[in-house]
Amino acid sequence: MERKLVFWEGMTRWWSESFLLMGMVLLQIPLLFIWGLYRLRRNKEIRKVKIGRIPRGSSGWPFIGETLDFIASGYTSKPVNFMEKRKSLYGKVFRTHILGKPIIVSTDADVNKFVLQNHGSVFVPCYPKSVTELLGKSSILQMNGSLQRRVHALIGGFLRSPQLKSHITHDIEDSVKFSLSSLIAEKRLIFLQDEIKKITFEILVKVLMSIGRGEDLNYLKREYEEFIKGLICLPIKFPGTRLYKSLKAKERLLKMVRRIVEERKECLDRRGDKGLANDAIEVLLRDRGESKQRMPLDFISGNIIEMMIPGEDSVPMVITLAVKFLGDSPVALKRLVEENMELKRQKAQSNYEYTWTDYTSLPFTQNVINETLRMANIINAVWRKALRDVEIKGHLIPKGWCVLASFTSIHMDEENYENPYQFDPWRWEQSGISVNSNAFTPFGGGQRLCPGLEFSRLEISIFLHHLVTTYRWVAEEDNIIYFPTVKMRRKLPISIMPIEH
Ligand code: HEM
Ligand SMILES: *[C@@H]1O[C@H](CO)[C@@H](O)[C@H](O)[C@H]1NC(C)=O
Ligand SMILES: *[C@@H]1O[C@H](CO)[C@@H](O)[C@H](O)[C@H]1NC(C)=O
Repeated sequence: MERKLVFWEGMTRWWSESFLLMGMVLLQIPLLFIWGLYRLRRNKEIRKVKIGRIPRGSSGWPFIGETLDFIASGYTSKPVNFMEKRKSLYGKVFRTHILGKPIIVSTDADVNKFVLQNHGSVFVPCYPKSVTELLGKSSILQMNGSLQRRVHALIGGFLRSPQLKSHITHDIEDSVKFSLSSLIAEKRLIFLQDEIKKITFEILVKVLMSIGRGEDLNYLKREYEEFIKGLICLPIKFPGTRLYKSLKAKERLLKMVRRIVEERKECLDRRGDKGLANDAIEVLLRDRGESKQRMPLDFISGNIIEMMIPGEDSVPMVITLAVKFLGDSPVALKRLVEENMELKRQKAQSNYEYTWTDYTSLPFTQNVINETLRMANIINAVWRKALRDVEIKGHLIPKGWCVLASFTSIHMDEENYENPYQFDPWRWEQSGISVNSNAFTPFGGGQRLCPGLEFSRLEISIFLHHLVTTYRWVAEEDNIIYFPTVKMRRKLPISIMPIEH
C-alpha cells in the first residue's frame, strides 16, 4: 500500500513535471511567430522609451524572457556570467526580462546604495510570484511603510541587544559542543552542510519561539522544509503542484505556531511584561504601538514563520562555505586556528566563561567571516519595485518596474576587489575596503538592513571557534552551486576527528 502510494506520488510528480516541460517546448513553436510581431511592437515602445533613458538591454523571448540563460548561469561556478555578459554589452545598469517580469538589473554600487536607501519610500519589495504567494501579504519581507518599520525595529532591537547576545551565547555554545561531539562519537564522515543546518535551526527556533529539542522541534523542521521547497518554483497552484504542497505545509506550520503564540500570550497576561523578552514571539506580543493595540495573533504567528526564511538557510551556508574556503586555503586556516587557540588558552588559564565579545573581537576571525560573506553571496541580490519614475545616475526606472540590485556583481568585481575569486581574509586588513561600504553589502542596507546581522556574526564566530579549536577535518572534493540558492553539490562531506593534545 505504502509503496503504491509512493509510486503514485512519483508518477504524478513525473507527469506534472514532464507536462510542464513539454508545454514549454510546444509553446515555443507558435511563440516564435508571435515573437516577430512582439518585436515590432517592442521596437516602437523602446523608441518611445529612449527619451526617458531606460537602461539598454534585451527582453529575450516572450513570456520566458532571458530566464533560461539566467538559470543556466546559476548552475555554473560563475553565476555572475549572466550579469557580466550584459554589463559588457549595455553598461553597469541594464534591462532584462526574467521570471516573468521586465527587470532593471544594477551592477553599480552607487545605484544599489540608492535603491537600498530608498529615499522617500520609492521602492517596495518585489519577489518572484511563487515567493509572494508563499510569503503572504503580512510578511515583513513584503510589508512596506510604517508597519515594516515597526516590526523591523522591534526584531532588530531584540536581536542586537547585549542581553540577548549574552544569553544566546551559552545556548549556541551548548548546541555546538553537544551536537559536534555526539556526531563524532557516531561517525567519522559527516555531511557538514546538513549537520550545521540542524544545529542552526535549533538555535533560530530558540530565539524566535523558545522551543527546545523534542517533538515540536522535529515537526517544525519537517514542515518548514516542505514549506520552503516551493519558494522558487513555477507559480502554478492546484493539488499536486509544488506550490500547493508548500502552501499546505504553511497552513500546518501556522496552526502550530499559533498554538504556541496563544500559550505565550496567556502566560504573559498572567505574569505581566516584567524583565526582558525571552524570544521574538514575546517581543511582538508585548508591543502595543501607537494605537495601544497588540498586533493580531495571526499576524504574529505568520511573521514568526516568515522570519525563519531569511534566518534559516543563510547562517549555516556561511559556516559551511567558511569551512570549504578554509579547507582550500591552509595558510588562512592556520592563522585562524592560532588566533582561536590563543583565546582558548587564555580562557582556560583564567577560568572565566566566554563572553559574547570574546568571540566577536578576534580580528582575523572577523576577516575570515567578511571574506566568506563576500565570496559566498548567500543573498545574491535584492528585488524592488519602483512606485514612481525614479532617475538614478542618469538611468530611468519607470513606475511599476522591478529593479534587481545585484550584490554578487559588486562583490566579485575587480574594480572593488583585487583577484576577486581568491579567498584572501588579509585583504580586510587594509583599511579602505569597509570605508566604501557600498561595495560590501552581504546584509543589504538602508531601512531593510538585516536585523539579524550581529546575531549571525556572533553565531558564526562561536561556531568557528569551537570547530577549529576542538577538531580537525579533511574535506572531500565538492563544488558550490548557486541556483536557486547557494548550496554544496555534495553537502560537503568531511571526515572529522578531535584534535589530540
Ligand atoms: C549570514 C546570515 C544572513 C545574511 C547574509 C542575511 C542577509 C539579509 C539581507 C541581504 C537582507 C535584506 C533583504 C532586503 O533588503 O530585501 C536581510 C533581511 C532580513 N533578515 Fe537577514 N541575513 C542573515 C541572517 C539573518 C538571521 C539569522 C535572521 C533572523 C534571526 C535574519 C532576519 C532578517 C529579516 C527579518 C529581514 C527582513 C528585514 C526587513 O525587510 O525589514 N537574517 N537579511
Ligand atoms: C503596502 O502594503 C500594503 C499591504 O501589504 C498594500 O496594500 C499596499 O498596496 C502597499 N503599498 C504600496 C505602495 O505598494
Ligand atoms: C566586516 O564587515 C562588517 C559588516 O558586515 C563591517 O562592519 C566591518 O567593518 C568589516 N570589517 C572590515 C575589517 O572591514
